[in-house]
Amino acid sequence: MSTIERRYRVAVLPGDGIGPEVVSQAVRVLEAAAERHGFGTEARYYPVGGAALDAHLDVLPKETLGACLESDAILLGAVGGPQWDDVAPDQRPERALLRLRKELGVFVNLRPVAVLEGASGASPLRPDVVEGVDLVVVRELTGGIYFGASFEMPDEGTDRVESAGNVMEYTRFEIERVARKAFELARQRRGRVTSVDKANVLAVSRLWRAVVSELHASEYDDVALEHLYVDNAAMQLVRQPRAFDVILTGNLFGDILSDLAATLPGSLGMLPSASLGGRHGLFEPVHGSAPEIVGTGRANPLAAILSVAMMLDFLGETEAAETVRAAVTTVLAAGYRTADMETESSRPLATGQMGAAVAASVSGQATDEQDFLAEQLYSHL
Ligand code: IPM
Ligand code: MN
Repeated sequence: MSTIERRYRVAVLPGDGIGPEVVSQAVRVLEAAAERHGFGTEARYYPVGGAALDAHLDVLPKETLGACLESDAILLGAVGGPQWDDVAPDQRPERALLRLRKELGVFVNLRPVAVLEGASGASPLRPDVVEGVDLVVVRELTGGIYFGASFEMPDEGTDRVESAGNVMEYTRFEIERVARKAFELARQRRGRVTSVDKANVLAVSRLWRAVVSELHASEYDDVALEHLYVDNAAMQLVRQPRAFDVILTGNLFGDILSDLAATLPGSLGMLPSASLGGRHGLFEPVHGSAPEIVGTGRANPLAAILSVAMMLDFLGETEAAETVRAAVTTVLAAGYRTADMETESSRPLATGQMGAAVAASVSGQATDEQDFLAEQLYSHL
């Protein structure tokens, strides 16, 4: 055994809605993985989003941002909720996330979508369509229409907005650096990139397509590249999702397509994400704050837990990452599901029970023997 201690500082930003519920389960699994694999974690909690606005009058307090910049990795729950619908645009909880992404310089967002073995029953699509799906959406995260110029023009002498707009813009530099990540990722996977744009209509997309094609020709011609218009891509994603390996796209199209791709595993509650670029790593479930199920135990912590697995990869703890993924597979294979993925034959678990089940499996206590797990879950929780 090495005596060099591996110790990671993790800034934990639970945020709003179900964020705190899923994040606490994810931290529990992180700690179990640390114990099992012999490294240390120091999780410190900081406010973000609506919760931070209410407590500190700012959706992204300086202290939170500072802590994120100094940490080894950041775990975020979710931001937003109806109670903040009427606050000024620059203080909407969502702004915190956009500012955080920009400040951290995490320009590439990886959203893997896999239908885990035996878990196809929860999808609204036919099992024979979704079985074996294994793709990654590579979404540009710090540019495009999310960060372009915007205006809201009131009628003269009134405050009634008459026209409004946002500019979707990209530079060559921004496109090339995210495209490079997609090609590199494809090389480690099945060697296929689908770049998604709207080049038949938008100038910004024509630049996107040109830059992706040039980079492909000059440095990545071993990777198979195809271009799809975003409307067609949406259709192909539900028609033949197994045809996709790496989907490369801009900020807005990536936002939309990743929610669409969530129908493949059957729930947004299964989708983790990693936002990378430079030195920082921000890990968050793709689902939002889901205010309608707060406090009901219906939230699925697996997206947050799988985000922890991505964090462990980023920290170089690849074995621990594999342990966490295997634990999730084990628990699903035993038939356990949170409410979002219930089927007739599944065994229902609340948020905390699901976290406990995965943590127990990570610790090596649980096996896939259903009785053993059931005993763990129902007698001790
Ligand atoms: C996401 C979310 C965010 C986004 C919101 C909350 C700003 O929908 O991460 O997909 O649009 O990027
Ligand atoms: Mn989204």
